[in-house]
Formats: sequence, C-alpha cells, structure tokens
Amino acid sequence: MEDEELSSWVQKQDRIAFKRILDNIGTGQGEVTSGAVIASPSRTDPNYFYQWVRDAAITIDSVVQYIDDHSFNDTEWPLSTVVESYIWNSYTLQRLDNPSGDFESLSGLGEPKFMPDSTPFKGSWGRPQRDGPALRTITISNYLAVLDKYGMGPSHPNLTDTEFIYANIVKPDLQYIVKYWASSGFDLWEEVDSMHLFTSLTQLKALKMGVDLACKLKDYSFNAQLVATFNELRLFVAMNGGFTAVKVPFLIETPALVVQGKRCGLDIGSILGVLHSHDVDDASDTASIPFPVSDSMVMNTLTALVGDMEYRYPVNHRRLGTSSGVSLGRYPEDIYDGYGTSQGNPWFISTATAAEVLYKIVYQLFMYEKDLVLTPDQSKAYSKITTLEASNHTYVLPYGSDAFKVASQSLQAYADSFMDVIKEHVDAGGHMSEQINRYTGFMEGAEDLTWSYGAFWSASRWRKRTSTLLALYT
Ligand code: NOJ
Ligand code: NOJ
Repeated sequence: MEDEELSSWVQKQDRIAFKRILDNIGTGQGEVTSGAVIASPSRTDPNYFYQWVRDAAITIDSVVQYIDDHSFNDTEWPLSTVVESYIWNSYTLQRLDNPSGDFESLSGLGEPKFMPDSTPFKGSWGRPQRDGPALRTITISNYLAVLDKYGMGPSHPNLTDTEFIYANIVKPDLQYIVKYWASSGFDLWEEVDSMHLFTSLTQLKALKMGVDLACKLKDYSFNAQLVATFNELRLFVAMNGGFTAVKVPFLIETPALVVQGKRCGLDIGSILGVLHSHDVDDASDTASIPFPVSDSMVMNTLTALVGDMEYRYPVNHRRLGTSSGVSLGRYPEDIYDGYGTSQGNPWFISTATAAEVLYKIVYQLFMYEKDLVLTPDQSKAYSKITTLEASNHTYVLPYGSDAFKVASQSLQAYADSFMDVIKEHVDAGGHMSEQINRYTGFMEGAEDLTWSYGAFWSASRWRKRTSTLLALYT
C-alpha cells in the first residue's frame, strides 16, 4: 500500500527539515540570543528576522517531541540545551517592558514579537496576541513531563529545578490566561482584533496542563483558580463563543467576522488549534477539550477548505476530480502574498497541517479501537477518497472489519497525497519558504520559514507513528 518513493522522500526531507529548524535557533554566537527562535533568516522583503512567541513555542515543541522519541539518547545535537535555552530566554522576554505592556500587570505577556537579541520590537503591529502565553505553557509543560518521564531535571545553570520553571515562567503565563482569556486580541495571522478559536483552544489546553502541574507541585489555591477558569473557557469554546453555528458545516475561526459579513469563517487556524490543543496519546484531552480530531466537525472543516481551495488556486486545478489532496492556504479571503497584499496563496504550514490531522484521525481509530462512524455530511467527503458511496444514512464501519481497514488505508493515502503536494513544491535542496504561488507553484514569501519546516516535520512524525499502527493491525 505504501508509496515507496514518497516514503523515501519524506524520510530524507524529515532530516533536512529538522536540521533547518535548528539552524534558525540562536546559540548565543552572533546577534541571535541563545534559545531565540528566528521566524526566518529573511531580513528584507519580507523582514522575518525576529522572534515570534507563537512560532518559537510551536518550533520548540517539535524539539521536545524529538527528544522524547529518542529518549534523550540523541548524541548528534545537544537538544536539551536548545530547549532549556529557549526556556531561559522566555524568562527574559516575559520581563521586558514592551508596547503591549509590562510584566507586573502581566499585560506584556501578550506581546507577539521581539528582536533577535531579545530586546523589544517597538514598531506598530497587531498586538496583543493572546495565544503566545498558551503555546509557551504547552511547550514547557511538555518538556517538564518528558524530564519527569526519564527521571531527570533541568541542567541549565539558571534553571534551578522544575519548581523554579513552574513558579517563574509557566505560572505567569497561566495567570495571564486567567486574567485575559475573555478579552479580545489579534488572531494567529495577526490581522483581526477579536475572539478566535485557535487562541481559545490553545488557552484551554494550557489551563488543563496547568491544572495538572499546579496539583503536582502542591500549588492548591492556584490550582482551584485554574480549574474554575478551565470550566468557564470550556463552556465558551463549546457553547457560547459562536465557533459552531447551525447550518455552517465547519468550525468558525473568528465568529465576529462572520456576523459582520466580512468572512465565511473557514480557516486552517481552526485545525491548527485542534492539533495544538489535543495530544492524541492522552485520552483525557479528547474527553475534556472540545473538537478532538475524531469530531466530525474537524474533518468537515478540512473538506470545506479543500472544496474551496481546489478551485481558488489554479495550481490545484490539475488535481480536480482526483482523490488527491491539494495545496491549502490560510483562509479563502486571504490577500497576503508573502511580501505585501495582492492575492493570497497556498502555504506549506496549511498543507502539512491537512496531512497531520488526517494521520491523527487514523491513529486514534487504531489506538482507541474505535468504529469509524460516518455521518451523511462526512460520507460525501469519504466518497471522494474511498470506495464508499455518499449516503443519507450514517455508516458505521466496525473496528477491525475489512471495510474499516480499507477506509483507514484510504484516509492514510489521502494524508500522503498532501505530503506529495509538498514534495512537488519544495526545491532541489529541500528548502521551504512560507507560501506557494497560486498560479506557478513556485515558492514565495519568507524563505526557510522555521514554522514550515516544523509543520512538515510534525506531519512526518505522525506519518511514521500511524504507519507503524497500520502495519500492526492491517
Ligand atoms: C504580516 C503578518 O505577519 C501576516 O500574517 C499578515 O497577513 C500581513 N502582515 C498582512 O499585511
Ligand atoms: C505571519 C503569520 O501569519 C504568523 O502566524 C507568523 O507568526 C508570522 N508570519 C511569522 O512567521
């Protein structure tokens, strides 16, 4: 079943991507602070030579996964040093007075972007962005859990122990979420001041991890506060936030824009939010955080994005009518072209995200031995990628049945087809920029974008994990 040529390319690109991630992290030599993650080495047209809190946290989370996958045994790179320098650099960034505010009032933690030498960025920008503290909490908590799993502690000279990291770095970020989760802020694409699903979901996951940490470290009164906020925010995400609406067959990233008639609400940011707020190995995330990958709204959101963008971007037209994935952009109405504004394009991050969510859907079916349940709206999507026909009834493919196996193999092949699209657009050296020109398919925007490599690397990691399960069970 598995496409050998794709597999060997993915393997090769996986190493390239991981190495390029590390290339964009400061070592303290030169102008980039140790542990600072540069969004891209591009300094002009566009200038991405900054540290974004979001990009950095997402990137370092991949490094944490790598460490866990290799049980700290990787001798090629000093990866725990990289992660711990990032944690120490976060301590510095948190305490800088900046245009979003200061540390004392916590408002400064909403600042999205800093200079490479960890001084404030003073230009005008879409600020605050309230996903930063959440993503940083998720990454650092994941690292603390990995340390704990291997019976280790931090070795960075300034990071005394887990308690120090919790009290001085994680806790202020959690306090920020408690204080500001109900306030509007700019979205992950830095354009709209409102409430956003990506931001709320990542905050919810951070609070959940905070609840566990506070309990473990016996910070009981703060733990109670976190539990209360978690419950409020969960209600907001699931019910009151407007992230779902009757007759809208997908998750709505920024509800206010839909109400104002400015956008349809469809956005890959929603799927990114789902991925960053659910650890599919942790069943309690599925149970307590809305919109796990198994929720039909998630697959429906992907289907709607594909349905729009296969037509919107001419580069995808030759795949029309096939069962292949296509290159995906951020949201239909996007006009950012990577340098300025004209017409939006497909992005590597979005296309890799499609692959990753599909791998995870397959993974959790086998992991939790779940039947594949296809509602009528979903069966339409599945009819494109499997031999199943669209139906007005709900299909139940029992776990382990032949139909179940065939359908999950088709899902895996569909995920692979998004990887194949990426393969088509990287250059001979495996470089990945931010965007893919919607007409020509050539790369555009910031070159060697750290997050593009991270998104690809993460999708590749889930490809491996899913293939292993599929090989065991089919
Ligand atoms: C730069 C931001 O980073 C990008 O997300 C946004 O689309 C453009 N500015 C809009 O001009
Ligand atoms: C623009 C993207 O919209 C934003 O999400 C990202 O943080 C910056 N570029 C830096 O990569």
